[in-house]
Amino acid sequence: MNFRIAALPGDGVGPEVTAQAVKALHNVGECFGHTFEVQRGAIGGGAIDDGGDPFPPESLELCRGSAAVLLGAVGGPKWDDPQADVRPEDGLLALRKSLQLFANLRPVKLHPALIDASPVKLEVLEGVDLVVVRELTGGLYFAEPKKRWADADGRAAVDTLAYTEAEIRRILHTAFRLAMTRRRRVTSVDKANVLETSRLWRELADEVAEDYGDVVLEHMLVDNAAMQLVRSPSQFDVIVTENTFGDILTDEAAVLSGSMGMLPSASLGEGGGDTPLGLYEPIHGSAPDIAGKGIANPLAAILSAAMMLRLSLGLGREAEALEDAVARTLEDGCRTADIARPGETSLSTDAMGDAVVSRISDSR
Ligand code: IPM
Ligand code: MG
Repeated sequence: MNFRIAALPGDGVGPEVTAQAVKALHNVGECFGHTFEVQRGAIGGGAIDDGGDPFPPESLELCRGSAAVLLGAVGGPKWDDPQADVRPEDGLLALRKSLQLFANLRPVKLHPALIDASPVKLEVLEGVDLVVVRELTGGLYFAEPKKRWADADGRAAVDTLAYTEAEIRRILHTAFRLAMTRRRRVTSVDKANVLETSRLWRELADEVAEDYGDVVLEHMLVDNAAMQLVRSPSQFDVIVTENTFGDILTDEAAVLSGSMGMLPSASLGEGGGDTPLGLYEPIHGSAPDIAGKGIANPLAAILSAAMMLRLSLGLGREAEALEDAVARTLEDGCRTADIARPGETSLSTDAMGDAVVSRISDSR
């Protein structure tokens, strides 16, 4: 089959890791008889430099005309001025919002070969296999008013935490449906002891749970959840939470997997039946400190491509072949700097990509 894929490499290490994901995709295509027609578009700081817009209309058109979008990362110190009118991150937010990609799935699994790469104790890591379902198009990131002003009392600013019933229900359904394919446990994370939006969220979670009799629902306050994630993370199966809480908890959860460089993500919208248009990106961000050095870990980007194969292209077998190739690459001891032990030699981004690619062909 032939698939059109939009690639938005973005800033920092984005282009380096996206190149590896694209290389892996082409190889999967060769092994399984598909063609992936990859077209590149601009997003983020580079796009601001080129035309002043972090997500130009051509990029949106490109995404709309594709079966899925692969993204690298956006942002960097060059565009970090708090006074700036426009920021690279606005490009990513515009992309999420304009395609209505409200469900952000962030699976956290520790590969056995990496058990000593995590700073968390071995016995705590045993059995960690969870997915954070983060609401992605509402809450503090988008709701109005959102502004800054100055008056006689000085400077002031406001962001708004707002959610509608429909927004909360659809993300809860995503979480419950996912739990049905897993260990049938949903932890809904909120701050219902303080926030009105959380109290609505909690009420709706109880209502939605009635449609999924086999799934056990538990509520957890976000501060406690932050602690439980490092104290006993194996208790979690599916965590569902609002945008900002999900942003914070997923960086924390990434530590469990040994490195931020390991975690993929998918952002999905409604519609599209079994193969919805989705955005696939590593969660590690642009990592400006190592950008351009060729040492970034490409596995999160490659694993994001695997999620894309499965969720947006309906190619489950191909996704598995790619994930198996990553697993074997790690078992064989291949490491980028972020997951290497002290003193251990580490591979470049490109060499790590090649290591995975050579193992895809093996699994034919
Ligand atoms: C993420 C990132 C983004 C977010 C930034 C880059 C806007 O941190 O995907 O987690 O906050 O959503
Ligand atoms: Mg984040």
